[in-house]
Amino acid sequence: MKIATILGTRPEIIKMAPIIDEISSRSIDQVVLHTGQHYDKEMSDNFFRDLEIPAPDYNIHVGSGSHAKQTGLMMQGIEDVLLDENPDIVLVQGDTNAVLAGALVAAKLHIAVGHVEAGLRSFDMTMPEEINRRVADVCSAMYFIPTEESALNLLAEGYSRKNLIITGNTVVDACFRHLEIAKKRGFEEESLADLNIEDMNNILTLTMHRAENVDDKRRVASIIEALKELTDMNIIFPIHPRTKNTLQNFGLFDELNNMDHIHIVKPIGYLDFLLLSSKSTLILTDSGGLQEEAITLNVPALTLRYNTERPETVTAGGNILVGSDRDVILENANKILNDDEFADRMKNAENPYGQGNAAKLTVDAIEDYYNRGLLNIEAPDDIMTSFTRKMVLVDEDITVKDFEDRENALIHMLFDGQKMRFPKDDLKIKGMMITYDARE
Ligand code: UD1
Ligand code: UDP
Repeated sequence: MKIATILGTRPEIIKMAPIIDEISSRSIDQVVLHTGQHYDKEMSDNFFRDLEIPAPDYNIHVGSGSHAKQTGLMMQGIEDVLLDENPDIVLVQGDTNAVLAGALVAAKLHIAVGHVEAGLRSFDMTMPEEINRRVADVCSAMYFIPTEESALNLLAEGYSRKNLIITGNTVVDACFRHLEIAKKRGFEEESLADLNIEDMNNILTLTMHRAENVDDKRRVASIIEALKELTDMNIIFPIHPRTKNTLQNFGLFDELNNMDHIHIVKPIGYLDFLLLSSKSTLILTDSGGLQEEAITLNVPALTLRYNTERPETVTAGGNILVGSDRDVILENANKILNDDEFADRMKNAENPYGQGNAAKLTVDAIEDYYNRGLLNIEAPDDIMTSFTRKMVLVDEDITVKDFEDRENALIHMLFDGQKMRFPKDDLKIKGMMITYDARE
């Protein structure tokens, strides 16, 4: 079997590293293709080093550009590589333009697509990421889903439960594995060593790069107004290149950079960043990955967004959405800083993203699909059977699988009287309302 992994940005490298490792450990053939969307060494090469994965086999160097240009170039480059390599499955991760391009190209070449971190929804179609993740899901054959909540999103959109595999998030694998290494080693990055972080209290780690924040002067200025007030904190701000550019263009960079309690540094390596995050009293971010890492590291997070595709972190109590409003940011930050009980409740929120074995579960499932011939995407040569969509209240002692086998059916949704549930094979469904397709 041959697995091709497509990645292009910092979070994809971090979250695919555990899977790349797992594939290598099983002696499965693999090729890794970098689109070159992120190209600064602080946004790309350093992560291959820190996460100890080999350099990619291909880099198609698309660089920066408009969405159409970047995605179009990626599609051309990816198609050439996939035609040469002919993998059994293509893995894409998350919601970047690489995911959109990779999933579209592979699906049209009839190569199975495995979407890692599938099923997330912000329900905000103004976000490029929401468009990318939805299109990738449409093109996929296998879905590696971080939580049951995200699996329910896919069921609600009509995806077959058979291909939905709940794995947890590989960010937990990466976090667990690398935090211990980072702790033993201590800070190494020059910019952080200068800050003498070991002696610092009240660290607030800040990251922001989301287009809807940093490309909007009103929003970014309002966030900065809040930062200016948080003078009791040591705000460490590893700045994303996009954010540096826009702050400079808006004329907001110098004032921020000159404030004593705000330390703007270049993007930092994964080990240093994990250590920094884990020592923080508070994380302020609009990053997707960092919302997940904060709850994994038991650090309270305030998310600088009006919606999130990671609602589990909010319902678990570890994350609060504060948008870009100065007053809301300050109100919540001050609560965390001054109310120990409130802060402790946030720190103790249960991590919804699994045990740190997402990579293993992902590769197990791929091997299983391969062995059962389910990665062969071919035009059907049997005539389709019609089916009727039904809904019933189950009044007998039976599991999902036994019901489906007996009725020649596929269950979509289950309602247990309180909430929708994911139809796992061995779930007992007596007393539940179910919807299903019954084959003729
Ligand atoms: C991209 C992803 C976003 C993800 C983020 C992770 C899309 C649509 N967006 O956003 O989902 O959360 O990566 O960080 O795929 N730049 C550099 N050096 C680099 C990379 C970028 O200077 O190595 C600058 C360029 O000016 C570029 C800008 O940053 O125009 C934005 O980069 P781009 O890759 O288009 O989007 P991100 O904001 O990084
Ligand atoms: N990260 C890092 N160094 C930094 C900032 C972030 O290593 O200076 C890591 C962070 O630990 C997380 C990932 O980058 O795993 C998040 O990437 P980003 O915020 O760029 O993208 P998103 O997750 O929002 O797509």
